[in-house]
Parts: sequence; C-alpha cells; structure tokens
Amino acid sequence: MPVITEIEDLRRIYHRRVPRMFYDYCETGSWTQQTFRENTSDFADIRLRQRVAVDMEGRSTATTMVGEDVAMPVALAPVGMTGMQCADGEIKAARAAEKFGVPYTLSTMSICSIEDVAEHTTKPFWFQLYVMRDEEYVANIIQRAKDAKCSALVLTLDLQILGQRHRDLKNGLSAPPKLTIPTMMNLATKWGWGLEMLGTKRRQFGNIVGHAKGVTDASSLMSWTHENFDPRLNWDRVKALKEQWGGKLILKGILDEEDARRALDVGADAIVVSNHGGRQLDGALSAIRALPGIVRAVGDQVEVHFDSGIRSGQDVLKALALGARATYIGRAYIYGLGAMGEAGVTRALEVIHKELDTTMALCGRKTIEGLSRDILLVPDDFEGKWT
Ligand code: GLV
Repeated sequence: MPVITEIEDLRRIYHRRVPRMFYDYCETGSWTQQTFRENTSDFADIRLRQRVAVDMEGRSTATTMVGEDVAMPVALAPVGMTGMQCADGEIKAARAAEKFGVPYTLSTMSICSIEDVAEHTTKPFWFQLYVMRDEEYVANIIQRAKDAKCSALVLTLDLQILGQRHRDLKNGLSAPPKLTIPTMMNLATKWGWGLEMLGTKRRQFGNIVGHAKGVTDASSLMSWTHENFDPRLNWDRVKALKEQWGGKLILKGILDEEDARRALDVGADAIVVSNHGGRQLDGALSAIRALPGIVRAVGDQVEVHFDSGIRSGQDVLKALALGARATYIGRAYIYGLGAMGEAGVTRALEVIHKELDTTMALCGRKTIEGLSRDILLVPDDFEGKWT
C-alpha cells in the first residue's frame, strides 16, 4: 500500500481505480471551469504569518457546528452519486465521518438512501435537500429525514438548474452506467471497482427510485434535474421549508452579501458560502474571495460556513481565519473514498486534520476560536466590489 501523506496521493489512486465517467463527474467544473480552478488557486494567494516561541502544548481543533461537537470544523459536504465512486459509498463515508467525529451530509441525489445510511450508522447525520416540483415528494423526503433522526437539513439554493459540465454530457453520465462501447472498454480496466459494485444492490438513486411518483428513468442526473428540480424556488418557499422541517436549517450556496442577509430573514442556523465547487455559475467569484464580505455582513448573526476549494488543512485554516465558523470538503474525501473506501475517507480526514493542527501551531495559535485574520496576508484586491 502506498504511503498517503497528502490529498493529492488519494486523487491519483482514485483516478486509476474509478471509471472515467465518475472521476470526470467529480473532477469537473461548469463550462470553461474558471471558477472551479480559481476556487483552489485563490487560496494560494493568501500567505500565512509564522510565529515562534509560542507554547503549543495542549492544542485542539475541536469546536462546534450548529451546536454539535466536532473533532475539527470540517464536515463532509453532500456529493451526488457518491455510491457510484465506490460501492455503498454513502454508508462508508458516513461511517468514517462518524468515527472521526465530523458531520456527514447525505445528498438527495445519493445512491444509498436515507434509511440505508441511518441503518449503518449510530449517530445522526445531516440531510441535504434539493427542492423538487413535486411538493408531496418534498414533504415525504423531509419526513424521511426526520424519521432517520437527521440532525440538520442542508438546503441547497444554487442548483435549481444545472450548470453544464461538458464531460458529463460527452461521457453520457448515468447511474448505473449505460453500457456503451466506450464505457465498457473503460470499465474493463476498472475491475476492482466493478467487482465491488457487483456485490451491492445499491446502484441507482436510492432517495428517488421507488419514492418519486411516475419515475421511469432516474438514471440521469442531468435529465432528472431538468425535469424535476423546481426553478421557482424562492425565499418564501425557503421559509415554508424551514417550518416544515422544524429543526436546524443550513442554507448552502450563498455567494452574495444580499443573499446572506435574506438568509438571516428566514432564520437560518447557518449559511454555507459556496459556489458548488465551481460546478454551477462559471465566472462567479471563488468562494474564498466571497467569504470576507459575507462574514462582515452577517457573521455576527449566523454561523458562516465555507465550502468550495478546500484540499488541505492549510486551506481550512485560511477560511477559518477569514471568518468562517467551519468548512466542508467534497472532492477531498471523494478521492479517498474512490481510492480506498471507508479507510480512504478516514485517511483524507486524518491528512487534513494533521495539516490543520500543524499549521495552526506554526502560526502560533492553539485553538480554532483563537484564529483570526491577523495570521493572514491577503492581497489588497482580493475581495473586489460589485458596484
Ligand atoms: C450535484 O450536486 C452536482 O453538482 O452534480
């Protein structure tokens, strides 16, 4: 087994092991992928302030997210089709998160269902909701999340229509994969993945098939989104959904200060500054550039979480020092999952934890609460203005 010391190690193994269509699905941004690239490259423009001779004994990365204790402020983000990256992927990722002590967020567009994940875990996980046109389906899935004792609802606001990702169209992305000649040729080289997949029954969208009325083919994320996601989603509906859910509500996909203020009006418990990993509005600001303004606008009134672009503990630290209360990783744990299943997700979390802990120490800080902007050097033009 190779020595894994960084997330990039996991990505390389993942690339070899998982069919091209699912690797591309993960590793793609929309259109020109400018925002996808800048989500990571903009982190590199921020410099860290080295401090020395500061007593580092007794450091801790522990904190809370929406009132829940976490071993470090890094939740696993909702990722569609996780169970295609690795057989029973959502169950494996949720178990790794539970053991590590960080939240796991199950996507509406998961392969394993809410009930599957609840059955194989012991602590509450979070459920991510996409709002569908079919209100009965939405009421039903909210009830299922309540029945499964999910402890927060993560409502995604930035994907009522799908940003185009060229490679998904070219690859004919579907779950399970449709057996065209190019797909079969590629699958023939991915026998480890294939053998595990043959050993599970969970190969289609588990929260949809058998739950949504009149669904004949839910295999294509693209056509499903197009036909079923509700483009009329607005703040009144968000408010109504909050009441329907009745528990902790996290609004994901906020990139603008005005939207952050609207999120306050509906009484969100947290907002997630995110551009969906550069998968939606290509040309949008990188999430890390959008973060400081949003923190200034609402950071004293609601938990501001951060998603999009994190590949290391150093990135986590930068987002926290810019005012985020907590962060999410998506691709970084999917690489681990595709590479090595549950152990790979654990490894991804360990790598990020070690990087966060060490970097925090080298910046002279001992706790997450003790992080502040003065450990960063941020370029003058980092934020930009819309006016
Ligand atoms: C769905 O969450 C996607 O980005 O494909």
